[in-house]
Amino acid sequence: MAEFKEAPAGAGPLVQVNTWLQNRFPTAYDAYRVHMSEYYAPKNFNVWYFFGSLAMLVLVIQIVTGIFLVMHYKPDAALAFASVEYIMRDVPGGWLIRYMHSTGASAFFVVVYLHMFRGMIYGSYQKPRELVWIFGCAIFLCLMAEAFMGYLLPWGQMSYWGAQVIINLFGAIPFVGEDLSLLIRGDYVVGDATLNRFFSFHVIAVPLVLLGLVVAHLLALHDVGSNNPDGVDIKAVKDAHGRPLDGIPFHPYYTVHDLLGVAVFLIIFSFIVFFAPEGGGYFLEYNNFIPADPLKTPAHIAPVWYFTPYYSMLRALTDPMVNVLVALVAVAGVLAALRGGLSAVGKGLVLGGALVLVFLLKAFDAKFWGVVVMGAAVIIMFFLPWLDRSPVKSIRYRPGWNKILYGIFVVDMLVLGYLGIQPPSDGKTLLAQAGTLFYFGFFLLMPWWSRLGEFKRVPDRVSFQAH
Ligand code: HEM
Repeated sequence: MAEFKEAPAGAGPLVQVNTWLQNRFPTAYDAYRVHMSEYYAPKNFNVWYFFGSLAMLVLVIQIVTGIFLVMHYKPDAALAFASVEYIMRDVPGGWLIRYMHSTGASAFFVVVYLHMFRGMIYGSYQKPRELVWIFGCAIFLCLMAEAFMGYLLPWGQMSYWGAQVIINLFGAIPFVGEDLSLLIRGDYVVGDATLNRFFSFHVIAVPLVLLGLVVAHLLALHDVGSNNPDGVDIKAVKDAHGRPLDGIPFHPYYTVHDLLGVAVFLIIFSFIVFFAPEGGGYFLEYNNFIPADPLKTPAHIAPVWYFTPYYSMLRALTDPMVNVLVALVAVAGVLAALRGGLSAVGKGLVLGGALVLVFLLKAFDAKFWGVVVMGAAVIIMFFLPWLDRSPVKSIRYRPGWNKILYGIFVVDMLVLGYLGIQPPSDGKTLLAQAGTLFYFGFFLLMPWWSRLGEFKRVPDRVSFQAH
């Protein structure tokens, strides 16, 4: 146990309370030093670095508004829709709490998508931050599960039919699919049992895991230190006291800095909550103001905007697209086998692997591969630290065309997102297929293209102009 300290003679009540606490809870003071006042963050953070703290803010908003919603919400298929309307009309301030929560869901994805993209352009997932990234990807998965299950709770038409469509997808998995969807639903159709289990997962199970992962994410980050827009390791140049020359204490510098981001965010967030809570039908779909009716399928079912890029990829997997994949696997297998440096056994293994994959592609139907592709689109992100072979972290020092490639990646996601909201047509499906191929090409060919071109010299110190 640490030595007891005495408050200085004549100390005021605040100092006395502080000393009292310090003697009884030194761990809290150590944590404050390690994670705040003596955590040295690179001094060149830019706007991209606001989104981590904003994600934490949205997490808090969601938890607090969620607690108040649960006080009035009824997780019962016969009562749920009416209880949400009751919250909106009769509970004092209920409309504000509900709109903050529904807008918060979309805000969470906006902030997290920007946060992830920052990680991509500055190579923040590269050594030694692989685990920070992996925890982040796990957070993203939890966030998707959380949003999906939360959307069922108002028990509107979109809640109901959206859940129906997505849970039915699991049925496409060979052998276990039907049992799996039955297990998720708790019934043969989406019903009261589904609502109850989704409620339980949405309000306690997933948020608990999410919170645990966020703590792990931040602890792992603080163990290795933050990256920065230059991708320079600030720990390489230290002063006589062992402090990084390009680092500044997180508190007070970045706590104050982050407050600016919080203020701007809250202005935009409040504007949406007060003036456009439905977000033009993107944040709250119009069909969801109609109570769930198991006998009436809406003409057009689309998920909320943040799922639509993945939904597009799911729909892109038609029978002809499976044939395209077969051709691609065959060509990739032959090219890999022809490459020099492989022994006869190696070539045989590569060709054999490609053959098995072709066989599997043809053995199961396109719907199943749609589900696989949708899942793979998220899972592939976990492997980014090993797919990227670039010798430098930040895009600033990569070949100029990398910026164009990352730009196309963003446009591709936006186009896929747009297509996922639209009713399918031949032309749109073709575009979604091209977008899906680009998405996977971007990641799967990264070990090759990330090494190409002229890299600029990374400076020893971060580039920073005081403003
Ligand atoms: C609830 C969601 C999340 C929260 C609250 C959160 C929080 C944070 C915070 C506070 C930071 C430090 C400040 C900053 O660098 O912006 C950070 C850094 C980081 N996060 Fe997240 N994060 C979340 C989700 C994610 C996701 C989904 C990913 C990626 C898949 C991710 C990847 C990273 C990476 C790589 C860093 C280090 C960035 C660097 O040092 O350049 N995070 N996160």
